[in-house]
Amino acid sequence: PASTTCLPHGGLAVGGVPLTEIADRFDTPAYVLDEEEIRARCRTYRDAFPEAEVLYAAKAFLCRAVVRWVCEEGFGLDVCSAGELELAVTAGFPPERIVLHGNAKSPRDIDTALCLGIGRIVIDSPSEIARLAAAVGPGRRQKVMVRVIPGVSAGGHEKIRTGTDDQKFGLSLTGGYAQHAIARILGQPQLELTGLHCHIGSQISSVEPYVTALRRVVGLMARIRDAQGVVLPELNMGGGHGIAYRPGEPALDLTALARRLRTELIESCGAAALTVPRLIVEPGRAVAGPAGVAVYRVLAVKHTTDKVFVAVDGGMSDNPRPALYGVRYAPRVIGRRRIVNTRRATVVGRHCEAGDVLAADVPLPSDIRPGELLAVPVAGAYQLSMASGYNLVGRPPVVAVRDGHARLLVRRESLDDFRSRDIGI
Ligand code: LLP
Repeated sequence: PASTTCLPHGGLAVGGVPLTEIADRFDTPAYVLDEEEIRARCRTYRDAFPEAEVLYAAKAFLCRAVVRWVCEEGFGLDVCSAGELELAVTAGFPPERIVLHGNAKSPRDIDTALCLGIGRIVIDSPSEIARLAAAVGPGRRQKVMVRVIPGVSAGGHEKIRTGTDDQKFGLSLTGGYAQHAIARILGQPQLELTGLHCHIGSQISSVEPYVTALRRVVGLMARIRDAQGVVLPELNMGGGHGIAYRPGEPALDLTALARRLRTELIESCGAAALTVPRLIVEPGRAVAGPAGVAVYRVLAVKHTTDKVFVAVDGGMSDNPRPALYGVRYAPRVIGRRRIVNTRRATVVGRHCEAGDVLAADVPLPSDIRPGELLAVPVAGAYQLSMASGYNLVGRPPVVAVRDGHARLLVRRESLDDFRSRDIGI
């Protein structure tokens, strides 16, 4: 994760910048993003998937600098709202390289996408078809894809599994739902169907579920060719590539994934005498997650009969993931000359509920004191993008580090930010 370097006296640097310096300059809590790490991860994808189109899933974390980095690294972009789309385009991302997702796209999402000239819109439900065709209007055509449910169960937590028929995304292969919608789309002159999409879930650590999903979706492509005489040129296999949040945890092997998807695609298309579609993948977590580090300051240490609580100045408003998915992080104390003894402690946030736990039962110095700094690695994805205004604590700043320099990308949310929206009395 993030190009962290251990410094003498227990210090820790990211991108060549000591985290103590970040805390001094930008205060805590603060999120540090390692620009080189994000770029290096993009290059890993480009190397592993040289023939595929790779999109960065903006929902993992988005700000204008990240838009620029992934754009420069040759990525496309997956967005799921007018907000993400507008931010990306105003930061200079070419709209034709953007894909819009969403199970409930608002009129504003669709109008913005069409107005900005988005590359593709992924249709997720039958109700979208006529609405989208009408919005495109006569004499124009919009490229679309269809999200299908391949009936594969995969993903790090029940709440982030999207490959089965019992969840809200996509159209089922079973029962003919997907094929029926596809026939309707093909009947709309305003819509140009370029291919199928499936995203089976997130934080997946093995290749097999992707292979099963690919075979089933290619099977549908062959049926569409047989029934409608249409050969679809694109296949988007989504994201979901798992990463290690703690040392020793399994991460998805991207090279193995790329190799298997490629051979399976060629084989299953060969067996069905189908032209091999262009592969698209759209990772978010595996690009941004390991490039981020959250820095907190300890505000209180409390011993109870059976626990030690270490309370920090952030919590579930900047990282709801442990509370939502039971994710386990590996926080470490920084800037300590020596650690004599460790004991197990629970790192909690400052919010008004008992579920505000950042890391339960982790080893920390037994004499940890208020004022010390804690770093939480692998904090770059789905933390700040899911951050909230709970307790008016304010969302932390985002600081980019590179070659020993730190620069502020997103400033800390202030009370004035909240007050400016609070316009009634
Ligand atoms: N494509 C689609 C259509 C998606 O819905 C997602 C993620 C991705 C790609 C990227 O998946 P990734 O490569 O990042 O796993 N909040 C949860 C994760 C939700 C994922 C939502 N969709 C978490 O914190 O674990």
